[in-house]
This record gives sequence, structure tokens and C-alpha cells, in this order.
Amino acid sequence: MRRDIVIGNWKMKINQQSAQALVDEIIAGIPDVDADLAVCPPYLYIPEVGQRLAGTRIGLGAQNIATHLEGAYTGEIAAPMLKEFLCKYALVGHSERRANYADTDETVAMRFQQAIDADIIPVLAIGELLEEREQGVTFDVVARQLNAVIDFSGIENFQNAIIAYEPVWAIGTGLTASAEQAQEVHLYIRQLLADKNQRIAENIQIIYGGSVKPQNAEALFAMPDIDGALVGGDSLKADSFLKIYSSFQK
Ligand code: PGA
Repeated sequence: MRRDIVIGNWKMKINQQSAQALVDEIIAGIPDVDADLAVCPPYLYIPEVGQRLAGTRIGLGAQNIATHLEGAYTGEIAAPMLKEFLCKYALVGHSERRANYADTDETVAMRFQQAIDADIIPVLAIGELLEEREQGVTFDVVARQLNAVIDFSGIENFQNAIIAYEPVWAIGTGLTASAEQAQEVHLYIRQLLADKNQRIAENIQIIYGGSVKPQNAEALFAMPDIDGALVGGDSLKADSFLKIYSSFQK
């Protein structure tokens, strides 16, 4: 049976002091829920947040990961560096990286592979733009984004990966896909994987992201193919973040 997971993406919306306070509040308030929980701080705060998380059951993740193992890549952070600081997860292909930092299907696949090689779980973000949804090509877009990684890395590596379906129009906008809209795409993703490997399709966690809040989490998590959430805005408030996490219990 798949385990559920909630992952917080703090983006570039925090400073050292508020990161410390937030992680301490999450640790102090974590309810007894049978699901996983993780946070992705900005790179700089990974060591300190990691120290605070030591001995808890909350996982640590990075918001990105380099395309290469090492070398002349000014400003980049490589997978083994993240592993040294005990990152268990790395976001790969977030739409903000695709839109603002020229991430392509190809570089996303390279990042995914770097994570796998370092024994870090890639959280592969895919999802359509508003125009694409309006044109009715949502399935084509997620299939293209997913197939690019499968072709590069191989389906077997999805055994140690998470997929985050994040419709770009729902990120940070307050617009959420309805639970039914999200479920439809999650099911499509699972079927695409099942055509290649049934066992991997059944076991992989496919989480939803895009304005997840305590008010909509329960309906999303009730869907059979939604195994949790990638949370941006509401992961910056311990109370909301933990309420979302508690929505599995209901
Ligand atoms: P949001 O962000 O929850 O603020 O919409 C989600 C994300 O970017 O992963």
C-alpha cells in the first residue's frame, strides 16, 4: 500500500530566523498521523534545518539539484552535497524553474538522474499552463514531461521517485484544481506508468500541488490516486501546514 506524504516548499520566502522558528513549530506540533512529512528550505538553511530535524520523523529536501555531478558550474549545488547534509528529497522540474530558469524536459531529466544516483528521492513536478488546459492538451503536456524523464532515466528509477502534479495555473494563485480535476490527471499519470510497469505505477506516490490549503486538502486526499501534497504558501505557516497533514486522518 502506498504511504501518503506532504512536502512543504518554502521557496525564497523565508529568512534564517523565520526558518528556525517554523521548523521548531512544526516539530513541536506534528500530530500522530500515519503519513510522511518533509520540508524543502532554501539551500542555505538546509544544514541548520537538518540539524533541528535530526531524530524527528520529518524529512529534509532541497528545492532543486544540479544537472551534473561536479565541475565548473558556478552557483550550482550538486547531488552529493545535498546527500552530505542528509537531504532525502529534491524537487526536480518545479514550474518556477522551468519558467524562470530555463529548465527544459532534458535538464529536468538530468536533475532527476542526479538525484537517483545520489540516493535522493526526486520529486518530479509536472503540470500544464492555463492556456494548455484551455486548449485541452493537459494530458499531452504531462505525458511529454513524464516521458522525457522515463526515456532518459528508465522506468525502473521511478521506483524511488515521487511525482508531483502541479497545474501551473493553480500555483500561488489561490485557484485549486477541483479534487475531481486533479484525480483525472493523477489517474492518467498512473496509467501512463502502468503501461510500462504495473508494479511501479501501483507503488509510486503521486502528489498534488497548487494552492493546497486546510480547506481543500481533505477532498483532495480522499481521491484514490492522490497520495499527498506539495505545498507552497501554506507550508510557511506551521498551523496550516500541519492541518493539511492532519487531513489524512479524516
Ligand atoms: P502554492 O505552491 O501551494 O503556493 O500554490 C505550490 C508549489 O509551488 O509547489
